[in-house]
Amino acid sequence: MKVLIVGGGGREHAIAVSMKKSKRVDELYCVPGNAGIAQIAECEPSIGVMEFDKVIAYAKEKKVDLVFVAPDDPLVGGLVDVLEAEGFRVFGPRKNAAILEGSKAFSKDLMKKYNIPTAAYETFDNPEEALKYLETAEMPIVLKADGLALGKGVLICNTLEEAKAGVKEIMMDKHFGSAGNRMVIEEFMTGREVSVLSFVDGKTIKPMTSAQDHKRAKDGDQGLNTGGMGNFSPSPFYTKEVDEFCKKYIYQPTVDAMAAEGREFKGVIFFGLMLTPKGPRVLEYNARFGDPEAQVVLCRMKNDIMDVIDACIDGTLDKIDLQFEDNAAVCVVLASDGYPVSYEKGFEITGLENFEGKEDYYCFHAGSKFDDKGRIVTNGGRVLGVTAKGATLKEARAKAYEATEWVEFKNKYMRHDIGKAIDEA
Ligand code: AMP
Ligand code: GLY
Repeated sequence: MKVLIVGGGGREHAIAVSMKKSKRVDELYCVPGNAGIAQIAECEPSIGVMEFDKVIAYAKEKKVDLVFVAPDDPLVGGLVDVLEAEGFRVFGPRKNAAILEGSKAFSKDLMKKYNIPTAAYETFDNPEEALKYLETAEMPIVLKADGLALGKGVLICNTLEEAKAGVKEIMMDKHFGSAGNRMVIEEFMTGREVSVLSFVDGKTIKPMTSAQDHKRAKDGDQGLNTGGMGNFSPSPFYTKEVDEFCKKYIYQPTVDAMAAEGREFKGVIFFGLMLTPKGPRVLEYNARFGDPEAQVVLCRMKNDIMDVIDACIDGTLDKIDLQFEDNAAVCVVLASDGYPVSYEKGFEITGLENFEGKEDYYCFHAGSKFDDKGRIVTNGGRVLGVTAKGATLKEARAKAYEATEWVEFKNKYMRHDIGKAIDEA
């Protein structure tokens, strides 16, 4: 098979590594890709994920048999639909299903209608009503821009003043652009967060192993929200009881609700969960693999990823016995200092060869490229996802942090407490 991956971050590198392991994949392509993905796939850095016409032309030129659309923007924008209209076989939800991630108002209304446990909320189309509502609301409170905002459109406000300023930021000053045309205001919940990714074929859902993200930029969960600074899998807090509850009241009901709405979901649903004192609640849905969740989950998957992808597309996921290794993985993101606000890029990355031939160690590239001298240089806020597997979470963490020393670039920055929660388990 010839396969094209759309995307160019650490998640796509992890997907590419999984596909490369499959006996069924002969040729791998990626747009735009990055310098890491380019070691195992033919990349075309000049094509952006939102340049649908160019993606289609490239897929035609390479005569690919399957396209895997990985990032949120093209999924929500309908790239799957236009590729299918051109006759391609595609993995990922269509536009009418990707709205599960594309609109928080949609996902909250869906959960309310189908009794899927989540925080209480109200939706607002105009700031005056939102401000009026806040006057009598309990603090802290959570404000969410309706649309996609790089994972940053969520504000947790401790006081009425903060909340009012948040409404202004989202709806009036349009800090997150048109994502803030509507807003969800929801109840603040407490508890541990867990991410569960799952394969879905329209009717059957098969959850993968659990993971836990670290969204804030600085140690101790301080600093700004980022795309994710590292994570681990599995989460020791995701117990058998939690799993059973979620399967019964969250996972299958979500898939059934989407089907009942005429929005059959095929692809990956990412459940962002909070384990509250009252039980698991949905924080958010994503319509794709997480980044860096894919890095710690896929490296532990035993199945041939192409078999699972085919089953999702063909509606035969019930026949797949999804299996994960009985071990653990930790991913530490090496970022450019200053991320997620402002940072320099273009610095040479050295030491990448240290990962060669080392079993259980992975260096997934998130933001890297070749410069005009052919050197691999930094090209983004998140640069590398250094990942290691171990028999236990503690071992995986020790190995991942050991490996963070193998690579260098000028403004390398990382959190030092990824997986610290394991100590409390
Ligand atoms: P989201 O993009 O919806 O996952 O939100 C980003 C982060 O904000 C989550 O990972 C949580 O840490 C936090 N968050 C979102 N919604 C709530 C809520 N209702 N209560 C408490 N924290 C929340
Ligand atoms: N790591 C969180 C996400 O991919 O949205």
